[in-house]
Amino acid sequence: PEASALCGKSVVVTAGPTREKIDGVRFLSNYSSGKMGFAIAANAARRGARVHLVTGPVNLPTPSGVERIDVESAVEMLEAAQPLFGECDLFIGAAAVADYRPEAPVEGKIKKNEAEMEIRLVRNPDILAEFATNRKLGQLAVGFALETAGGIDYARKKLADKKLDLVAFNVYDGRTSGFEVDTNALTLLARDGGVTELPLLPKEEAAARLLDAVESLLPR
Ligand code: PMT
Repeated sequence: PEASALCGKSVVVTAGPTREKIDGVRFLSNYSSGKMGFAIAANAARRGARVHLVTGPVNLPTPSGVERIDVESAVEMLEAAQPLFGECDLFIGAAAVADYRPEAPVEGKIKKNEAEMEIRLVRNPDILAEFATNRKLGQLAVGFALETAGGIDYARKKLADKKLDLVAFNVYDGRTSGFEVDTNALTLLARDGGVTELPLLPKEEAAARLLDAVESLLPR
């Protein structure tokens, strides 16, 4: 087969959810399983790329040939990914990073009493935006945008706001596409205006089609 444009390239993929500590035994998180990001990392490695996979807590085996870095929170994800920014040719943000974290996590366990409770949340760093705004010429930035049906304009806004080369608009229907399930429906939006609507596919296949699109953006 024809050599992949990703062969020998350095790729960083984020995957999974993040956990944001409330106290020593509780956290805020989301339903991401890591399947989509792991499928991308596995497929990129098969194309001959050097792949670093920075992942939140998931129950998945490490794809063969992939360097895996486990993290818990968004801040840890940024700290793990940032040292890889300088050398990579391509960054793909497939993680569902929590946008907020509790301002002051409590050590030990919060005890309940009769009163209501409020937890103040502060903004987390945006790992993908951090990469995209500081990258060098030639480094590609690819993101996901999980939205309910009809949310394609939000995805377009993320493409523009985060200055990405490509965004995968990921329909979340709670049933066949999005978090946890084995299939995904992606629409690929390129910076040049190109739109590729993929059918509902197994996440492995969706990952392959996404990387085909990315390859067409890479210099040979
Ligand atoms: O893990 P699975 O169960 O297989 O599910 C896959 C998925 C639905 C999690 C994945 O396909 C997906 O869509 N991931 C992005 C989820 C999302 O809604 O992201 P967002 O719209 O909050 O963020 C947009 C982009 O910025 C994403 O590429 C995200 O990784 C990145 N981001 C967001 C916030 C933040 N603080 N840091 C980031 O890097």
